[in-house]
Amino acid sequence: MRKKIVAGNWKMNKTADEATALLSEVVNMIKDEVTSDVRVVLCPPALYLTTSRQYLTAGGKISLGAQNCHEKASGAYTGEISAPMLQSIGVEYVILGHSERRQYFGETNAQLAEKVNIALENGLTPIFCCGESRDLRENGDYDAFVKNQITESLFHLSAEAFGNVVIAYEPIWAIGTGLTASSAQAQDMHFELRRHIAGQYGDTVAQDTSILYGGSANEKNAAELFAQSDVDGGLIGGASLKSREFTIVVKAVQ
Ligand code: G3P
Repeated sequence: MRKKIVAGNWKMNKTADEATALLSEVVNMIKDEVTSDVRVVLCPPALYLTTSRQYLTAGGKISLGAQNCHEKASGAYTGEISAPMLQSIGVEYVILGHSERRQYFGETNAQLAEKVNIALENGLTPIFCCGESRDLRENGDYDAFVKNQITESLFHLSAEAFGNVVIAYEPIWAIGTGLTASSAQAQDMHFELRRHIAGQYGDTVAQDTSILYGGSANEKNAAELFAQSDVDGGLIGGASLKSREFTIVVKAVQ
């Protein structure tokens, strides 16, 4: 069943005290103000995941998400965190393939296919990121590029397994720039991605897939973006670091 989801990707921000304060504010605001059935996923730095769990009530509308996981279950990978570790502390979602990890850490579509596999094997819901650069957007090659990210990292999955994946379309030129995609641009790409998924798995799976928009989504533009028929919520960066703004974004989901 297609879910409305708003995920907050804190990226590498907040000290421990700042993280505690933000988490507590967001949880209380959402508990008091959000009436829709939206699923809220908070993705703090991994360091804070264990302590964050105490702020979330079982069966509530807020889940914990990680910002990455390694493609192996364990081993000599200094500094890395595995899917089994995340599952063992109650994390339910994991962002995979964020453009910043592709850019700074050289993550490839093939490597991300392995990360998706181990996340699913450990009961985590991948929030799989895709999106094009400014150059690809301007020369018109973005559609094929983004669809290929989905093909190469996800289309090896069975229809059942794919049903557990959330997609996040994040045009790189909109991330952190304040240059949000227009609602028409977002809708067009989401529609094309859903058509691409239908071509592989059929209409039912495609219609049941949550496709989130990310890239300078905030309290001012979320309502228009989320009103688009193929936009099922957002993956929020900067605006997720401010409790009031993030709560306004969450409330924008109908
Ligand atoms: O993962 C979400 C992020 O990439 C979007 O960042 O700051 O443009 O909302 P921002």
